[in-house]
Amino acid sequence: MIVIIYAHPYPRHSRANNALLDALEGMDSVRVRSLYDLYPDFSIDVAAEQDALAPARLVVWQHPMHWYGSPALFRLWMDKVLQYGWAYGKGAASLGGKDVLWTVTTGGDAGSFSRCGETDLALLAQPLRNAGEQCGMRWLPPFSLHGVTTLTQEQLAGAGARYREMLEALAGGYDQAGGVQDSGGRP
Ligand SMILES: Cc1cc2nc3c(=O)[nH]c(=O)nc-3n(C[C@H](O)[C@H](O)[C@H](O)COP(=O)(O)O)c2cc1C
Repeated sequence: MIVIIYAHPYPRHSRANNALLDALEGMDSVRVRSLYDLYPDFSIDVAAEQDALAPARLVVWQHPMHWYGSPALFRLWMDKVLQYGWAYGKGAASLGGKDVLWTVTTGGDAGSFSRCGETDLALLAQPLRNAGEQCGMRWLPPFSLHGVTTLTQEQLAGAGARYREMLEALAGGYDQAGGVQDSGGRP
């Protein structure tokens, strides 16, 4: 199963992230947890979040880029959910062996996030990558969509199709390898 931890402060006003998520409609193996819908008061149910991650073979961290990082509720989610003794540290084995994917949309164009541009996306990804790896997860190459404010609906739909194709390929691989069983349930 693929569990998407989705952090958009205004999910109803999203174009880019909505286009990516809309493209996943009908994928039985995907569960989306929209943190700002679930926890508008920032009061995260840690046990529910940890339970939701249990059946995941792939954990996706998806959000729009805000100030070269993630929206605040995602950072809080990391602080609360990725607990010592559960996610990392002595005796922690809850996330070990899962894959983790960072899906990020940016207002800045692709050139400004290239190695030669003003900001290197790999550098911005490093704290998330370290966190995932600290929890024993395998870091996958990020899925990034840039310059989103100027993309047409067709371009957004194309990006959605590429996103779906990538997740379907990953899900197919997990099925073949005998992934963890889907325990069902939507937020
Ligand atoms: C508070 C805030 C901070 C932002 N910071 C950045 C940034 O650091 N770099 C960038 O490229 N875009 C930045 N943006 C633009 C968003 O990444 C962009 O609007 C978002 O990816 C669009 O996705 P959506 O259509 O799903 O809302 C920021 C937007 C907001 C509201």
